[in-house]
Amino acid sequence: MRLIIESDYEGLSKWAARYVIRRVNEASNRPRPFVLGLPTGSSPVGMYAELVRAYKAGEVSFKNVVTFNMDEYVGLPENHPESYHSFMAKNLFDHIDCPKENIHILNGNAPDLKTECEHYEEMIREAGGVDLFLGGIGPDGHIAFNEPGSSLNSHTRVKTLTRDTIIANSRFFDNDESKVPTHALTVGVGTVMEAREVMILVNGHHKAEALKAAVEGGVSQRWTISALQMHEHGIIVCDEAAVDRLTVETYRYFKDIERNNL
Ligand code: GLP
Repeated sequence: MRLIIESDYEGLSKWAARYVIRRVNEASNRPRPFVLGLPTGSSPVGMYAELVRAYKAGEVSFKNVVTFNMDEYVGLPENHPESYHSFMAKNLFDHIDCPKENIHILNGNAPDLKTECEHYEEMIREAGGVDLFLGGIGPDGHIAFNEPGSSLNSHTRVKTLTRDTIIANSRFFDNDESKVPTHALTVGVGTVMEAREVMILVNGHHKAEALKAAVEGGVSQRWTISALQMHEHGIIVCDEAAVDRLTVETYRYFKDIERNNL
């Protein structure tokens, strides 16, 4: 696993965006589209802004890109301002040239949620698998909505949100926990780990414990992000605020080994 430590959120966002742009550009002329897995949440907002800027500056095109989002709430109308459909339109898709038919987001209002999840996995397979899965984590180390205890081999399915996640996400719902959906559709830890590359963004002091578990702890369903240790091409990009609980040794090791990777 690589750990890139940037000084602040802006540095993290730019580093991640540069990485995505490089990969998308490398694949721009190949017959099979580049397949990107995408997250929501506040962590990727800066990276998305940087991707939009780069698109507008002519540095990248998303014409040959297919996307699969990680998750969506169950029962929230698609046009609700806090749905992940709305989030993606607002932060990315409304501003870039990714063809609409290439965009995939789970339908949390599907009549049969199980079939919806199975079909999603099928579509990922048909697209040739995910080339680069981007993600964030919750303070409890969850990836997508794979809360603690989720199988590290799991695939797309319905999940019940933990009370901690409902409280954390209530900030988007007028700080009213009762307005936060109780369930979500989410890709599994296995779905993410099957991607050819995985890049996770971790910023802020409130994620320090999760980052420690991800980098220094053992692989455990308790911190589902820790599955990244088993991936051949896993990268975590974090800011200085998130490293507070790493040992000095770990911190210096990654600062040294990644010193030339801009
Ligand atoms: C939600 C999302 C996750 C995200 C997490 C952290 O639970 N389902 O994909 O990583 O929130 O959100 P934030 O980036 O806002 O801290």
